[in-house]
Amino acid sequence: MSLGKDATLEIAPDVHWIGALDPDLRVFDLILKTANGTTYNAYAIKSPDGVAIIDTVKEECAEQYFARLESVTRYEDIRFVILNHLEPDHAGAVPELMRRAPQAKIFVSHRGLRLLQATLKDELGQYEYCLSEDGECIKLGERTIRFVHTPYLHWPETKCTYLEEEKLLFSCDVFGSHYCDDRLFNDLVGDFRFSFEYYFKHIMRPYKRYVLEAMDKIEALSPRLIAPSHGPILRDQPMQYVRSYRTLSTSSIPIEQGKESKSLLIFYMSAYGATADMAKSVYEGASDVEGVLVSLYDLQGGEVEPFVDLIEDADGLMFGSPTINGDAVKPVWDMLASLVAIETKGKLGAAFGSYGWTGEAVGMIEDRLRGLKMRVPEKGLRMKFHPTEQELGDCKAYGRKIAQVLAGKAKPKEIDFADL
Ligand SMILES: Cc1cc2nc3c(=O)[nH]c(=O)nc-3n(C[C@H](O)[C@H](O)[C@H](O)COP(=O)(O)O)c2cc1C
Ligand SMILES: [Fe+2]
Ligand SMILES: [Fe+2]
Repeated sequence: MSLGKDATLEIAPDVHWIGALDPDLRVFDLILKTANGTTYNAYAIKSPDGVAIIDTVKEECAEQYFARLESVTRYEDIRFVILNHLEPDHAGAVPELMRRAPQAKIFVSHRGLRLLQATLKDELGQYEYCLSEDGECIKLGERTIRFVHTPYLHWPETKCTYLEEEKLLFSCDVFGSHYCDDRLFNDLVGDFRFSFEYYFKHIMRPYKRYVLEAMDKIEALSPRLIAPSHGPILRDQPMQYVRSYRTLSTSSIPIEQGKESKSLLIFYMSAYGATADMAKSVYEGASDVEGVLVSLYDLQGGEVEPFVDLIEDADGLMFGSPTINGDAVKPVWDMLASLVAIETKGKLGAAFGSYGWTGEAVGMIEDRLRGLKMRVPEKGLRMKFHPTEQELGDCKAYGRKIAQVLAGKAKPKEIDFADL
């Protein structure tokens, strides 16, 4: 690292990077590994009519931030404090910044008020703030600052800020990478492609449809420079990164078979073959229904990540697990836990399994499916030990019913939740 403790970088005329380097960070937000740390990028836009600050940094890195800020401006010259996102990695130093520049007006998106209150607590009452609407513009001297709302990228209130004359997009978490290299510009740093995609997969992927909406807005702006809040600043071919987000948000291999049909995936585990037999019959029954493409997978023969990819594009999911020691088995839970990486809301879900005496697994899986905001239209199917021929017929009927609901050919049953 060669960038001094208070050295800043002018990324465009009178626009300075005043962020912080955190090369020793190894885990971010509990869910991401950060092999070479990260940066928290913040910026100062200077004008004869005062200064606009874009974002702050994590509280623990505030010393670097204030040193850099002081080397480009005085606190009394700060007119606007623009907060793109109120997660603590960007808003951690906001309380201290506002104590030092209490005259500054804060800008958050209209969805950000509660989080701003949670950040500043009782001190919020001392400051002036504005809740921006999407597309709203403010003037800083001759310069025009536009707010571009990008909900869910990463939190509901997240927005980007666009400096019109420079065509410079302060994109916050969007296009970020956890990659710490003090050369800062994408054409000067090391190979950070892995970090860019890894960041997308962990932060943006569950919100793909919002990503596509945001890319429509950003493409229309056609920025010349993209300054995200983590990792390299994208000055070389910035639109490539926009295109990359679009690609990463779109299914790469189209399903050729039955483009119009719904996709139903059946996953199971089985120690003695009872749940496996149930699964095969459920599969047969579901396969009878036209317009539904059914796939059967034994979780023992697969790895979690490719299954998550499949599930992302599926319309319905069924999980079969025996009850072992009062619970569903670990690979099923691992699979279900991994679904936080994708959007599951509104998919159809169902569970089945064999048991010996208490049979908790099926109900527990159903609870988890509901927790993932999936629709669970039919009560799960449980069978004691190996299913009889007649019970296999019931499994077939169950599979058929779920597939029919998925295809819109049957109404979901009214479930008495007390019965579950
Ligand atoms: C180690 C072990 C623990 C079990 N614990 C339970 C239990 O807590 N409750 C229950 O209903 N059945 C329990 N069972 C019984 C299984 O759920 C039953 O044998 C089931 O049919 C196994 O289905 P499978 O052949 O698909 O693995 C247990 C079985 C084993 C081997
Ligand atoms: Fe974030
Ligand atoms: Fe962030």
